[in-house]
Amino acid sequence: MDTPLNPRLTRLQPYPFERLRRLFADVTPPADLRPISLGIGEPQHATPAFIQDALVAATRAQPSGLAAYPATAGTPALRAAFTAWLQRRYGLTLDPATQVLPVNGSREALFAFAQTVIDPNDRDAVVVCPNPFYQIYEGAALLAGATPHYAPSDPARNFAVAWDSVPEAVWERTRLLYVCSPGNPTGAVMPMDEWARLFELSDRHGFVIASDECYSEIYFRDEPPLGGLEAALRLGRSDFRRLVAFTSLSKRSNVPGLRSGFVAGDARLIAPFTLYRTYHGSAMSPVVQAASIAAWGDEAHVVENRRLYREKFAAVTPLLEGLLDVRLPDAGFYLWAGVGGLFGGSDTAFARELLAQYNVTVLPGSYLAREVDGHNPGAGRVRMALVADTAECIEAAERIAASVRTHTPKA
Ligand SMILES: Cc1ncc(COP(=O)(O)O)c(C=O)c1O
Repeated sequence: MDTPLNPRLTRLQPYPFERLRRLFADVTPPADLRPISLGIGEPQHATPAFIQDALVAATRAQPSGLAAYPATAGTPALRAAFTAWLQRRYGLTLDPATQVLPVNGSREALFAFAQTVIDPNDRDAVVVCPNPFYQIYEGAALLAGATPHYAPSDPARNFAVAWDSVPEAVWERTRLLYVCSPGNPTGAVMPMDEWARLFELSDRHGFVIASDECYSEIYFRDEPPLGGLEAALRLGRSDFRRLVAFTSLSKRSNVPGLRSGFVAGDARLIAPFTLYRTYHGSAMSPVVQAASIAAWGDEAHVVENRRLYREKFAAVTPLLEGLLDVRLPDAGFYLWAGVGGLFGGSDTAFARELLAQYNVTVLPGSYLAREVDGHNPGAGRVRMALVADTAECIEAAERIAASVRTHTPKA
């Protein structure tokens, strides 16, 4: 007899990196070129020593940070660190007792939030997300029993998501909307008028907005990216109704292994989310809380981190402009490059050839998006994560440029 399992698990799609492994299974890269991967969006700049020190100090303290169970809500000091940062970064005043909550990185929180918002008996429930998108949104929707609806990003409008493409009948069934700004993989920052439009739709249809803002501190324009809560406040929505923002230290402070972030927004959503998380058992370790307080309290390392990304993107982007359809993004740490007519516009063929010829890994854009009505909005593009140091990224770009040149027909 088969073991009964949650049948929704079978609806989960393979993760992009799994698909990449399969795509490359029979490719032999040149042994004389050291491998360079721009495939995975994992920060590689050094973790600041003061964060490591705070973690160690909390472990060694008397009593040790490992000696007691933490509370799901975190300590008052941690919550105060969140609200102080929100005040400095966005000019927001949130109540540390009711409007913020620690999470173990934004990924698990983005997933868990759908399980809190979606009624498992609601067969009509739709979760709207951008396309291309961070795959957790889709998995969260599917495991909550909802149907994902994918809104394509529009290359003609700096990859803004075409929210107006969502039919009215779909908005009526929408219970949750994921926004990703700055976007992965596009780097696009959502402007105020789009926020106003989404708030209007949320008011009309009652859906919740989950705003994924984990790339908010890595940006290339002068003005820092607009945050969802900031947009709400400016539009007079001081209770942040039906809105929760997801923020993370992973990229801001180069600590993806720390697993630390927080959510902030509508107290009427934070309370049930806290309840859900109590049962899920996802309280943040006290030593991680201590390191997080140190990290959120310091901006100097964030300024320096941003400077490194700016320097790197300024050096790398011009090497590829003119060869691929690529330009400096608003924010984030990805180049989202169109392959044009190369390999008949196939992003997977481009990625295979690049590995075979030059031992450089990039992620095919079609793996980050879903085909809808015969169109995959990630197709024909590749995502390059510029997370390694500048010299390595320059070398990767030079190899990519060489690969493009060998495949560009001579005029
Ligand atoms: C768009 C987006 N959201 C969320 C995350 C999760 O980051 P973390 O769980 O480290 O906060 C990532 C990580 O790559 C991401 O790209």
